[in-house]
Amino acid sequence: MTFKLTILVGTMTGTAQLVAQELELAWDGDDAEVTTLLMDDLDASVFAREGMFLICTSTYGQGDVPDNAKKLYDSLQATRPDLSAVRFGVFGLGDRTYAETFNFGGKRFDELLAQLGAQRIGERVQHDASSGVLPEEKAEEWAQDWLAQAREAAAQTA
Ligand SMILES: Cc1cc2nc3c(=O)[nH]c(=O)nc-3n(C[C@H](O)[C@H](O)[C@H](O)COP(=O)(O)O)c2cc1C
Repeated sequence: MTFKLTILVGTMTGTAQLVAQELELAWDGDDAEVTTLLMDDLDASVFAREGMFLICTSTYGQGDVPDNAKKLYDSLQATRPDLSAVRFGVFGLGDRTYAETFNFGGKRFDELLAQLGAQRIGERVQHDASSGVLPEEKAEEWAQDWLAQAREAAAQTA
C-alpha cells in the first residue's frame, strides 16, 4: 500500500523548507510518496488530499505564523471545515529567546487543526534555534520514529 504524505511548509527565511527537504529525503521510498508544498497559495481545501500531513512551520512577529502561512491559517479559521478524517504531525521552528511566544507558529496550527477534529500523530516538535542543534539534524533524528507512528495510524484507518 502506498503511503502518502504531504508536508506543508510555513517559512519566512527558508529554514522550515530545508527541514522539509531533509524529511522528504528521509521518507521518500518505495512505498512512501512524499509531496512538499509551500503554504503560500493554499487554503483549507488542501486537507482534502489523500494521506497524512506534516505541518512544518516557523514563528514570527508576536508569536504569529509566517506570512506565507497566513492565508491557509485564516482560511481554516474562516471556513472551519470538518477535518475529522485528517491525521497530521507538527514540526515547529522557533527560538526560545522569544520566551513568551516560543514555537507559537506550530502551536497555533496544532490547536486549530485539533479544534476542527483532526488528530495529531506523535508529539509536537519544538525546534529551538538558540539550542545549537540544527533543525535539519533534529528532523533527521525524529523522522523515522514519526513515520512509524504515522504508518501505524494509517494501517488502523485503512
Ligand atoms: C523577527 C523575528 C521574529 C521571531 N519571532 C519568534 C517568536 O515569536 N517565537 C519563536 O519561537 N521564534 C521566533 N522567531 C524565530 C524563528 O521562528 C526561527 O529563527 C526559525 O528557525 C525561522 O525559520 P524560517 O527561516 O523557516 O522562517 C523569530 C525570528 C525573527 C527573525
